[in-house]
Amino acid sequence: MQIITEPREMQAISEKLRLNRQLIGVVMTMGALHEGHLSLVRLARETAGIVILTLFVNPRQFGANEDLHRYPRPFEQDIALAKAAGVDYLFAPEASGIYPETFQTSLVCGTLADKFEGALRQGHFNGVATVVAKLLNITKPHIAVFGEKDAQQLAIIRRLVADLNIDVTIVGAPIVREENGLAVSSRNIYLTSGERSNASILCQGLQHAGTCIALNRRDLSAIAAEVDAMVRSVQGFIPDYVSFVDEETFEPADNAEQGREYRMIMAVRAGSVRLLDNAKFLCR
Ligand code: PAJ
Repeated sequence: MQIITEPREMQAISEKLRLNRQLIGVVMTMGALHEGHLSLVRLARETAGIVILTLFVNPRQFGANEDLHRYPRPFEQDIALAKAAGVDYLFAPEASGIYPETFQTSLVCGTLADKFEGALRQGHFNGVATVVAKLLNITKPHIAVFGEKDAQQLAIIRRLVADLNIDVTIVGAPIVREENGLAVSSRNIYLTSGERSNASILCQGLQHAGTCIALNRRDLSAIAAEVDAMVRSVQGFIPDYVSFVDEETFEPADNAEQGREYRMIMAVRAGSVRLLDNAKFLCR
């Protein structure tokens, strides 16, 4: 595995790979690699001959009161995990390489980014969209794999690629979970052991939603309210939102139409950590 830090060098390597007719897959991360990230590498590997993993803690997607400075950065461990997962190139630029002093141009997302995570984290998705566009231009992949764990981010990236005619296929990857159902995340290390075991309530909430829909209930907002109450019943767990949405627009859905798919999304504050989870349901 080669470690590259300079954007220009990465671009030159990718250009050469493309000229040699290699299929490039990219997995973008902020490091502190875990099974979720590694599952994306494996998925990229299924189609791509060359896998590039980007590792960059993007300052522009963190709010003023967020955890940019305490975000975990176990670089040596990440190198070992990336290598073991069969990554060909690890692109780990410095912040000054991505945002030199001359940097001025940023992307502004539309209404898709105003809701849910976007409403609670001002400017977050503009920061994500800008860095994702830059990393696509630097790594020049044929496919880019993103996790459904961050479903709104995935929808925004699909929109970004379509809106700006970026020539890449975006692949969504299923959520990897711990044994108790908690979605794996770099921030789970901040949970106390009690919070960690109680966090299975999010997954149980999604399962409850699945049961309701299998019983042909159509009242999505009532089901979401039940799941909200389940989560709230755990001491110290406060949902920011629990809602069914349209997969593409993230418009909230109150009642299900037959034959349509909906995603239930939720964000929950558990002590000092925000937990995200979601699942997709087909209403028969
Ligand atoms: P990060 O939080 O490091 O996540 C990197 C990728 O891993 C994202 O596509 C995310 O959805 C995916 N991922 C995280 N946990 C997962 C899990 N349990 N199962 C499956 N996939 C999971 O998301 C970002 O970084 C950044 O916003 C980034 C896109 C890199 C831009 O800076």
